Amino acid sequence: MKHNKKENVPRASGDNGVIVLENITKRFGPNLVLDNVSLVIEKGKTTVVIGPSGCGKTVLVKHLIVLLRPNSGEVYFKDRRIDNLSENELNKVRTQYGFLFQGGALFDSLSVAENIIFPIRQHWEITDWREVEELVKAKLAMVGLDGYQNQFPANLSGGQRKRVALARAIALNPEVVLYDEPTTGLDPIRSDVINELILKLQRELAVTSVVVTHDMTSAYKVADRIIMLHKGRIVADGDADHIRNHPHPIVQQFIHGQVDADDLAVLRMSGKISQAQFLPRDFE
Ligand SMILES: Nc1ncnc2c1ncn2[C@@H]1O[C@H](COP(=O)(O)OP(=O)(O)OP(=O)(O)O)[C@@H](O)[C@H]1O
Ligand SMILES: [Mg+2]
Repeated sequence: MKHNKKENVPRASGDNGVIVLENITKRFGPNLVLDNVSLVIEKGKTTVVIGPSGCGKTVLVKHLIVLLRPNSGEVYFKDRRIDNLSENELNKVRTQYGFLFQGGALFDSLSVAENIIFPIRQHWEITDWREVEELVKAKLAMVGLDGYQNQFPANLSGGQRKRVALARAIALNPEVVLYDEPTTGLDPIRSDVINELILKLQRELAVTSVVVTHDMTSAYKVADRIIMLHKGRIVADGDADHIRNHPHPIVQQFIHGQVDADDLAVLRMSGKISQAQFLPRDFE
């Protein structure tokens, strides 16, 4: 396998690598977002990506499915190079992925069942509707929402909407599920429901998961491995204990939610917030 030959592929390699990023560099104009990142996503494991806002977590995850193409470097899915495929070929590869993207909304005009059927219709011609109904039922049962088939997204809570989006993400029985901030905006109990679902999918369907999160409780709960991105590079990589005890001050500041000293100095120098800036409408 090609990716085993390189020395700078970190940690896991060999037959367990489902997705491999090799020396990925990504720029947007002058903004260097990923700086020669190499990463092997291990089969059947849950890899969590953490890091400050804007550090490139979403950009990294989009490379795993080639929703973004690198400026240099290579992406492999099950040993096949995919960063250079046409959109048509990529769409076939993407049927093996499920993704739950940041702000990835449900279609408001479609019922819960129709939302889940949507990706199936995109890829298969449906001939047996009874089979599809069974599939929708099974996917909704998986996220604890069987019976909600005819509801519309507007009538669901934020947590329920995320669960429907997850049912949609797993509609095609993907091998890999990518989650970008799946618990953001949910209260701790609803967040924990999502954590339990991530664990359940891994246990029952043996999916390989990649989870981007700011939520360290969620990270510690679901992760087999945690990666921290900072300034375009992986600065920490290991299990929950490795991250908790990591000596790098950037890692400690992040996991304890502390503001970086430089950022704090900038904030303190930037003047007082005038009360006049908060008009009543800001609280409506
Ligand atoms: N399509 C794009 N065009 C130009 N710049 C982009 C694009 N997508 C992302 N960026 C830039 O890449 C950097 C990383 O963005 P990204 O969305 O990956 O951050 P993030 O770590 O996911 O942040 P957050 O935690 O806030 O979601 C940012 O500077 C962002 O402005
Ligand atoms: Mg993001």
